[in-house]
Amino acid sequence: MRAALLEKTQQPLVVVDDVEIEDPRSKDVVVKISHCGICHSDLTMVDLPASEQLPCIYGHEAAGIVEEVGNAVTRLTRGDKVMLTPLPSCGTCYYCVRSEFSLCVDGQNFMTGMRSDGTSPLSRGGDSVFQGFGLGGWGEYAVVSEGRAIKVDADTPLEIACVIGCAVQTGVGAVLNTAKVEEGATVLVMGLGGIGISIVQGARLANAARIIVSDPVASRRDYASNFGATDILDPEQDDAVARAIELTGGIGVDYAFDAAGNSQLISDGLQASRIGGTTVMVGAAITPLELPIPAMLVTHEKKLIGSLLGSCNGHRDVPRFLALWRKGALDLESMISHRRPIEDVNLGLDDMRASRGLRTVLEF
Ligand SMILES: NC(=O)c1ccc[n+]([C@@H]2O[C@H](COP(=O)([O-])OP(=O)(O)OC[C@H]3O[C@@H](n4cnc5c(N)ncnc54)[C@H](O)[C@@H]3O)[C@@H](O)[C@H]2O)c1
Ligand SMILES: [Zn+2]
Ligand SMILES: [Zn+2]
Repeated sequence: MRAALLEKTQQPLVVVDDVEIEDPRSKDVVVKISHCGICHSDLTMVDLPASEQLPCIYGHEAAGIVEEVGNAVTRLTRGDKVMLTPLPSCGTCYYCVRSEFSLCVDGQNFMTGMRSDGTSPLSRGGDSVFQGFGLGGWGEYAVVSEGRAIKVDADTPLEIACVIGCAVQTGVGAVLNTAKVEEGATVLVMGLGGIGISIVQGARLANAARIIVSDPVASRRDYASNFGATDILDPEQDDAVARAIELTGGIGVDYAFDAAGNSQLISDGLQASRIGGTTVMVGAAITPLELPIPAMLVTHEKKLIGSLLGSCNGHRDVPRFLALWRKGALDLESMISHRRPIEDVNLGLDDMRASRGLRTVLEF
C-alpha cells in the first residue's frame, strides 16, 4: 500500500507504495483511509531529533471505509463508513468501568499501534512499520482493533467529519468531559490551532459566559473570534494573565486551557484562574516541562489537570459531535483551511510549523 512514511533517516516524509499489510487478526479491521488531518502531535513526533519508533506512519485524525474484518468482529462489515479514534474504549477494563475511557488498556499502545504480542500488522522490506497514535492514518490502509473504528451514517461527509477524530474530540471533550465547564463559566484558551479552536467551540456549546483567547498569530485570533471567542488577546501586546483577571472583575477565570504545550502557559493558567479554579493541560510537550508548583495550589485549592483526547469515549462522543454538527451547533467546515493530496504531506507539515491556516486534511 501507499503511505507517507517517516523513515529511520527521518525527515522529510517520503511517500512510498510498498508497505505490506497482514490480514486482519480476529478482532481487527482493515480500513481504506479516505481522509486524515494533520495535528501538531504528528508534527512533534516528525520533528523529534531521534525516535526508536521508526519507520512510522503518523496521522491520527482519520476516516474511511471498512475493507476487511477479522472473523470475530461483530459490529462492522465490509463497506461500512467509519471514523477512526486513536483511543478505543473497551467498556470493561479497570478504567472504562470508572468512565475514564481515554485511559482504556486497549489504547495504551497508542504511540506505536503495536499489538500486545509486540508485533505490527505493517512491514516494509522485512522491517516492522509502526502505526503512530494507534492509527497510521497517512497510509492508504490502517489495520486497527475493532474498538478504534466507529461506524457512522452512510451520508456522513468524511472529508469534513475526519477532524472530529482528534481536534474536536480533544478540544470539545476537554471542555465537556474533562473540565465539565458549566453554563455561565469564564474560560481562558491559550493557543488557537485546531485544538484551541475546538476548546473555544466546546466553551460555546457549554454556554460559557466569557471565552477569552490568546495567540500570537493574528490569523488564529481572527479564527477564534469567528468561532465564538468573546475577548481576544495578543500575548505579545497584552499581559494575558492580567487581562483575564481584569475581564473577570478581578476574580480570575473559572477554567484556563493550555492548548500549545508550553510550561509558561500552564503557569499563566494557574495565575489567571480564580481561587478554586481549574487549569487544564491539553497541549502536549514531549520533553519534560519546567514548572514550579505554586504553594497557592493548597491555600487557593487550584486544580491542575491533564486531558487526553478530551477524556472521550469515541463510541459515545463521535456520534454526539456529528449530531451537534448536523444541527449546526458545531462548525467543522471552517476548521479545515487546506486540503492536500497525501503526496503533499510535507507542505501540510510546513503550514503547521508556520501556523498557516488552521487544519490541513490530507486526501487519498
Ligand atoms: N491532550 C491531547 O490529547 C492532545 C491531542 C492533540 C493535540 N494535542 C496537543 O495540543 C497542542 C495544540 O495542537 P494543534 O494541532 O492545535 O497545534 P497548532 O500548532 O495548530 O496550534 C498551536 C497554537 O499555539 C499558539 N501558541 C504558541 N505559543 C503561544 C503562546 N505563548 N500563547 C498563546 N498561544 C501560543 C500557536 O501560535 C498556534 O496557533 C499541541 O501541543 C498538540 O501536541 C494534545
Ligand atoms: Zn492530535
Ligand atoms: Zn477499556
